[in-house]
Amino acid sequence: MANTFVIRNKIKPFKKKISVSGDKSLSIRWVLFSSLSSGISIAKNLLMSEDVMSTIQAVKKLGIKVFFKKNLCYIHGNGINGYKIKKRTIINARNSGTLGRLILGLLINTTEPIKLIGDKSLSKRDFKRITDPLTKFGATFKLKKNSLPLKMLGLNNPKPITYTENKGSAQCKSAIIFAGMKTKGKTYIKAKKSRNHTELLCKYLDLPIKIKSKKNYDLIEISEVKNIRPLNYKIPSDISSSAFFIALTALTENSEITIKDVNINPSRIGVITIFKRMGIKIIFQNQRIYKNEKIADIFVKSPKKLKSINCPSYLNSGAIDEFLIIFLVAAKCNGISYFKDLSELNQKESPRLKLGSKILNQMGVKTITTKNSIKIFGKPNLKINKKIEVKDFMKDHRIFMTSVIAALSFGSQWIIHDKNSINTSFPEFLNIIKKLND
Ligand code: S3P
Repeated sequence: MANTFVIRNKIKPFKKKISVSGDKSLSIRWVLFSSLSSGISIAKNLLMSEDVMSTIQAVKKLGIKVFFKKNLCYIHGNGINGYKIKKRTIINARNSGTLGRLILGLLINTTEPIKLIGDKSLSKRDFKRITDPLTKFGATFKLKKNSLPLKMLGLNNPKPITYTENKGSAQCKSAIIFAGMKTKGKTYIKAKKSRNHTELLCKYLDLPIKIKSKKNYDLIEISEVKNIRPLNYKIPSDISSSAFFIALTALTENSEITIKDVNINPSRIGVITIFKRMGIKIIFQNQRIYKNEKIADIFVKSPKKLKSINCPSYLNSGAIDEFLIIFLVAAKCNGISYFKDLSELNQKESPRLKLGSKILNQMGVKTITTKNSIKIFGKPNLKINKKIEVKDFMKDHRIFMTSVIAALSFGSQWIIHDKNSINTSFPEFLNIIKKLND
């Protein structure tokens, strides 16, 4: 079966230097900011994945010209209010929650009705978290069971709002910032800490944003934006994609890896803090700042022993996309690991708490899960000696990649379905695995 991946052997110890693809959050945001700018923006190392291509298709539907030449992507923005929207426009966000949610903020002042649709997985995810604040700005929505498909009608003169975002969702926060950028007056957001790429880009572009950082939340003030200058950007590598290789190195004895030019934005490195606490040796080398974002090469060495962790919830938002691979490392730790306050994990491409636990159980690792927590009973000498089949996971790219790392780390025969799911975020994933095996 072409879309099924079979692994029969553990990976041999390796010492390698690799590069992973461009960061997904930054790639999507670059497309959206560039679509609002006045002039041509150019990106290098843009992630060529389905989520990013869906974003490009979406802005093209809004009248924006996008083209590729050699390894560069060019976007010709028409200005902050330059979208040209045809009657009965349908935007298909496919699998991308980030696109589906952020674009709604940008459509706040669109007086033509827009329909937003997505694939089966996205159509199960919560959109009320976005339509609630945008309704306060004055937009109207029709949703199907709080999700997609939805119809939106924006308005000429949205009203600025004051909003408390308490889920720690960067998608929600960013949608409100985008709507605030197109609204006269000042919009205020009290946002639980989450990734801050949107804010850093606003600052880099000298947009009228003010941020007061408190311990657990940020106070953000955004005013109407009149003009955005073009944004040339070299997208750094994705820490979420890197995490799979950090885990593989940690789970393979006598191995080392260096991952080049990774975005180590402090709001994204929860996974590094958690892995370090589990005993993995990780060093940031060659640290530098690029357009307000922190970049480094990440060096990893496999440890002799892995320690279990009682993971504090304040680390959750900075590691929200990495929990599947963190659970896998916990499977080999000495002791019981505990992760809590993770109801947001069930809001992802699949219910990850449930499905992550199911894979560990298939491997012979005991877990206790509730709606928002998991206990993992680690087995430092875990060996698998039965065939494992991973299927019915809603084509969740991160379940596929976690299963590949599990197979390469723990051995036995694995049959993993829906290989094409990697195209969502990391089409190069299996090619890099192959290079490690050479
Ligand atoms: C993202 C934010 C996170 C994350 C997603 C990308 C972003 O979602 O899970 O993969 O780029 O803003 P939430 O904001 O819903 O937590």
